[in-house]
Amino acid sequence: MDSSRTALITGASRGLGRALAGRLADQGWRLLLTGRAADDLALAAAELARTTEVVARAGDVADAAHREELLRVVTGWGSLDLLVNNASTLGPTPLRRLEDLTPEALSRILDVNVVGPHALTRAVLPFLLADGGVLLDISSDAAVGHYETWGGYASSKAALDELALTLGSELSGIHAYAFDPGDMRTAMHQAAFPGEDISDRPLPEEVAVPAILRLLAVRPPSGRYRAVDLLGESAVGSPPEATSTASGGSA
Ligand SMILES: NC(=O)c1ccc[n+]([C@@H]2O[C@H](COP(=O)([O-])OP(=O)(O)OC[C@H]3O[C@@H](n4cnc5c(N)ncnc54)[C@H](OP(=O)(O)O)[C@@H]3O)[C@@H](O)[C@H]2O)c1
Repeated sequence: MDSSRTALITGASRGLGRALAGRLADQGWRLLLTGRAADDLALAAAELARTTEVVARAGDVADAAHREELLRVVTGWGSLDLLVNNASTLGPTPLRRLEDLTPEALSRILDVNVVGPHALTRAVLPFLLADGGVLLDISSDAAVGHYETWGGYASSKAALDELALTLGSELSGIHAYAFDPGDMRTAMHQAAFPGEDISDRPLPEEVAVPAILRLLAVRPPSGRYRAVDLLGESAVGSPPEATSTASGGSA
């Protein structure tokens, strides 16, 4: 086994996951990438394989058999420095008010955005702990806002935040982050705003990815971080501050 750092990124065939994979590849990380559409994933993996060692496994993060396949790859590597729980669903679009969101639709949102990431985290946790690794759960401003029609997705991101922050307070051997990337010009964002011109939103590589790279370089305490804060003027030269930390709390 060589000494390069290893990362598992779910939902890496496009959008934020793909952009982050590109920058980590430039830095020599070995990558395990996922996504449901095998062709899209294979294309992304082939591009990245020009730069670094890439393993691609197509599947749904909500599927236990897929997660077992991912664990087999990580076990073969014998290490994992970074898990990015990035794959996510908005649920049915156009987004709808909670009174119109069926239990089945909410259940699927929670499976993909909460239960799957938690199960994957548990599966690879021994490797993250052994390597003093990083858990990066991709959150959203929706997790702390209360926007009409966003309730299903927002509740899943709030739950995902809780998982990252609680894990960070339970375990001192890893850094656990809930990370809010801010608006990004991606397929998911377009799906949330059908027919709208979203060209004013930054691409993932413009704000969110540099912010994640700063998080990985500085390794502040476990907590919830926003891309804008990590890259804002106040962050330059000083350690980034979490909007919520993983320690303490009140009932
Ligand atoms: N875009 C924004 O403005 C924004 C804002 C705040 C937070 N976020 C968060 O940022 C993260 C990335 O979003 P994005 O905008 O980059 O989305 P995106 O462009 O739609 O990309 C999503 C990626 O996840 C994969 N994926 C979706 N469902 C999956 C599943 N069930 N199992 C495995 N892979 C799955 C997709 O591939 P397949 O479809 O082939 O599976 C794709 O690779 C998400 O966690 C999202 O909630 C986005």
